[in-house]
Amino acid sequence: MTSIKLKTPHTGEYEQPTGLFINGEFVKGVDGRSFDVINPSDESVICQVHEASEKDVDIAVNAARKAFEGEWRSVTPCDRGKYLSKLADLFDENVDLLAAVESLDNGKAITMAKGDVGAASGCLRYYAGWADKIEGKVIDTNPESFNYTKKEPIGVCGQIIPWNFPLLMWAWKIGPAIATGNTVVIKTAEQTPLSGLVAASLVKKAGFPPGVVNVISGFGKIAGAAIASHMDIDKVAFTGSTVVGRQIMKAAAGSNLKKITLELGGKSPNIVFDDADIDNAISWANFGIFFNHGQCCCAGSRIYVQEGIYDKFIQRFKERAAANKVGDPFGADTFQGPQVSQVQFDRIMGYIEDGKKAGAKIETGGKRKGDKGFFIEPTIFSGVTEDMKIVQEEIFGPVCSIAKFKTKEDAIRIGNNTTYGLAAAVHTTNLNTAIEVSNALKAGTVWVNSYNTLHWQLPFGGYKESGVGRELGEAALENYLQTKTVSIRLGDALFG
Ligand code: NAI
Ligand code: MG
Repeated sequence: MTSIKLKTPHTGEYEQPTGLFINGEFVKGVDGRSFDVINPSDESVICQVHEASEKDVDIAVNAARKAFEGEWRSVTPCDRGKYLSKLADLFDENVDLLAAVESLDNGKAITMAKGDVGAASGCLRYYAGWADKIEGKVIDTNPESFNYTKKEPIGVCGQIIPWNFPLLMWAWKIGPAIATGNTVVIKTAEQTPLSGLVAASLVKKAGFPPGVVNVISGFGKIAGAAIASHMDIDKVAFTGSTVVGRQIMKAAAGSNLKKITLELGGKSPNIVFDDADIDNAISWANFGIFFNHGQCCCAGSRIYVQEGIYDKFIQRFKERAAANKVGDPFGADTFQGPQVSQVQFDRIMGYIEDGKKAGAKIETGGKRKGDKGFFIEPTIFSGVTEDMKIVQEEIFGPVCSIAKFKTKEDAIRIGNNTTYGLAAAVHTTNLNTAIEVSNALKAGTVWVNSYNTLHWQLPFGGYKESGVGRELGEAALENYLQTKTVSIRLGDALFG
């Protein structure tokens, strides 16, 4: 069996694919292994999905290679766009199903999951529009030659995605890769394989030629590692932890020097000046850290507030955080569901204990919520010092620290006091402060008077140890293209 009938609280019965999607079909793994898919809201087993071994990765890569060298090459750029556009339409038509599957498997609130589906279809449609706008240049060097550059796809792309935005990361990866004419083998995270498989069924429905998009479920150390070191994968795109990002880079170096892009962790500062609109700043601070249960690579986990409004800010911010509705992801007004897994739950609770031991003060939260499911109260630490683990390391949960600063220079210095550089935010009504501070922050994205407002048209990625390359926007296309220079000698004069 490569599918199963499932129900979610928001859909009737639906057909959940469980196989590996290889060469346009759902198939079992060669070794016949499968693994449990867990519902993080109640820790129950939803179903089993087939697990990709190294051999299955090989089979998927062969399918992607065959498609790349064969049928896919003869598909016009315009038609590549049509496939993506059709897929985007299918995402929109299936928004309720895709969102419900995401909430079931990942635990995110259904309203947020619907937002993810919309952002995923927006991303696919955006890249559909790029497919027939990939252009080279003519470069004049001298009268004896005619030179031009051509942008060519890289080839077979391995893509490894995490569990925090399973469907959205799927779209971020597939969109630019397909628009530029590559073929892909994408591995979803072992914690959240379901939505990627439903999306694979939509790939089939959209009529993509077999082998162009292959979607496999499996573990990082097995299928993920096989992708990273595969000799016939030309490029790997990874989103996940910095630790694994380093391993991917090493594996690429140790195998065929495949191109890599990495989108890794963060410890992003959210800086609030005295002159900020305090109501807005509190709202964005709350959304900045607690959106998606803090499981965001760009989460605003270090909040710095200027001394003039600090006391007022912290009082109101903690009231706001405590009022966030934590509970059943399918509840209409739920803001925060469970963390994705036992491992993540334990890791976050470990950080909370560590913060307490180090002498930081819990302003609100700090505890498990309920006794079933991986729910954690929104947690704010004050009384922190810059060297504390909870201020330096990515927690990836609903936990932030808040501290005071005096001057603009202090804010910039502490904002940049991290090995990461994914995102940052500045709240101020002074235009000069906004521009000066955003210029000085070493981060791939700086939000002014907002937070987490990502958009598929805007490049996203990391400075420093937060990554290599950019996703989204026109910038992402570069990661999936290589430049060929063709230089034609003109005239019939003999050389030399
Ligand atoms: P992870 O980096 O282990 O997992 C992300 C993806 O990489 C998954 O698909 C996984 O199967 C794969 N993977 C794991 N080991 C691999 C290997 N050796 N070779 C190739 N692929 C491999 O992240 P994990 O353990 O789920 O979460 C740990 C921490 O990572 C989180 O607490 C958070 O700090 C960070 N993280 C950051 C994310 C981001 O959006 N930048 C997303 C997920 C996690
Ligand atoms: Mg799950």
